Amino acid sequence: MPKYYIAAIDQGTSSSRCIIFDHSGAIVSVAQKEHRQIYPKPGWVEHDAVEIRDNVQDVVQEALDKLGVTTKHLSAIGITNQRETTLIWDKKTGEPVHNALVWLDTRTADIVHELAGEEGNDRFRDKCGLPLSTYFSGPKIRWLLDNVEGLRERAEAGEVVFGTMDSWVIWNLTGGKHVIDVTNASRTMLMNLETMQWDDEILEAMGIPRAILPEIRSSAEIYGEGTGSLEGVPVASALGDQQAALFGQTCFSPGEAKNTYGTGSFMLLNTGEEPVMSARGSLTTVAYKIGDQPVHYALEGSIAVAGALVQWLRDNLGLINSAPEIETLARTVEDNGGCYIVPAFSGLFAPHWRDDARGVIVGLTGYIEKGHIARAALESAVWQTKDVADAMEKESGVDLTELKVDGGMTANNLLMQDLADVLDAPVVRPMVAETTCLGAAYAAGLAVGYWNDLDELRDNWHKAAEWTPSMDAERRKSEHRQWSKAVERSLGWVD
Ligand code: G3P
Repeated sequence: MPKYYIAAIDQGTSSSRCIIFDHSGAIVSVAQKEHRQIYPKPGWVEHDAVEIRDNVQDVVQEALDKLGVTTKHLSAIGITNQRETTLIWDKKTGEPVHNALVWLDTRTADIVHELAGEEGNDRFRDKCGLPLSTYFSGPKIRWLLDNVEGLRERAEAGEVVFGTMDSWVIWNLTGGKHVIDVTNASRTMLMNLETMQWDDEILEAMGIPRAILPEIRSSAEIYGEGTGSLEGVPVASALGDQQAALFGQTCFSPGEAKNTYGTGSFMLLNTGEEPVMSARGSLTTVAYKIGDQPVHYALEGSIAVAGALVQWLRDNLGLINSAPEIETLARTVEDNGGCYIVPAFSGLFAPHWRDDARGVIVGLTGYIEKGHIARAALESAVWQTKDVADAMEKESGVDLTELKVDGGMTANNLLMQDLADVLDAPVVRPMVAETTCLGAAYAAGLAVGYWNDLDELRDNWHKAAEWTPSMDAERRKSEHRQWSKAVERSLGWVD
């Protein structure tokens, strides 16, 4: 009897990956390909969507080849993706009209300020759960319509379509199905969290024609069948990468939370079937919707730059040759020597939401050496997590008793111990740290009956490592004060 598997594609910010899982949720094959980060101006970040499309095809084939199986052995394929990144393409030819505007891109600052007007950044928060920010797709669509010649006319004539990266991948895999899953739709600013439909009032305020928008679908259902090299394989799930990680960590009950350390870092807390509206800088977002079951919501603390700071120290400053070396370098010193880095490369996200912030390194003296910079870089991920955790605890009323973590940076023991110390809570990492792909695989598997229910998935979660807090409260408090002073210095840098 042949073995059957579930594949997941993770179309992320720096690379596209395909991971194949077996029924126990174990990884049996992986392939990954990085794509170019295009920086046309300071604060602008683009991706070539055609390069991404080709990479996705390549990694799927490579993952199958490595395992020595064909698509006949795949029960389904699921998709997870970098969220908010915005693309418009020609409906007939499938060719993008412009590079994708990446979630980190800040070119829409003026549009955001104009939309905020007298009513402020929370103008649409009651409806979509999000503050006005350069982070989300709505203002990015508006920028494209205003700046690509003739695009608004083509949009109004129904010749072009918009999608986030899940839409783009599904369109290409299925030969032209134009859909978006509800978690990705909840990051556009254009979806109403109560109705789960596009909101006419927001569309009108942002000047976005409804005709270009995809159909909003659940996170786990068959959107279509694969074509070409994926001929006949059901394309059966899509979730934004952070929601997929929440699902992969099996945080199915209200009060369960996870934090993923990738390019950025994102803490999501499952709040159950009711959206919790935030007043302290967290986002209200859709966690998942499995087929026709009720929607689950989450509160989210989004941090734009975590792993990206380590990459920057490697690629732009040449301080290290590979990302894991950051731990070795950081361990050459006892502490940060009084140095703090606030990596506000794209402004500061939660809980501050300040487009006008830019990165700072403070506390420099003649004493500071490379090791202190490495240490401060790692600590910046920890302190940012502390700030979002504090905000989320206050608005949810739930005390953080344990944090489930995942993502590349969780291989860094120094960082994980710092995190437990600063949060004053145990930090745990599961056996399968690739929770993003796992979550997409789980959702696809549920859609096609490969797995029966959530309990079966919960049984697959096993702890691999745990870090327990050991920092004294006084030290935590005084270092947090220093960090907060550093954050103050980063605000208001852009006029
Ligand atoms: O919201 C942006 C997020 O989806 C990007 O995730 O893993 O590429 O940092 P990541």
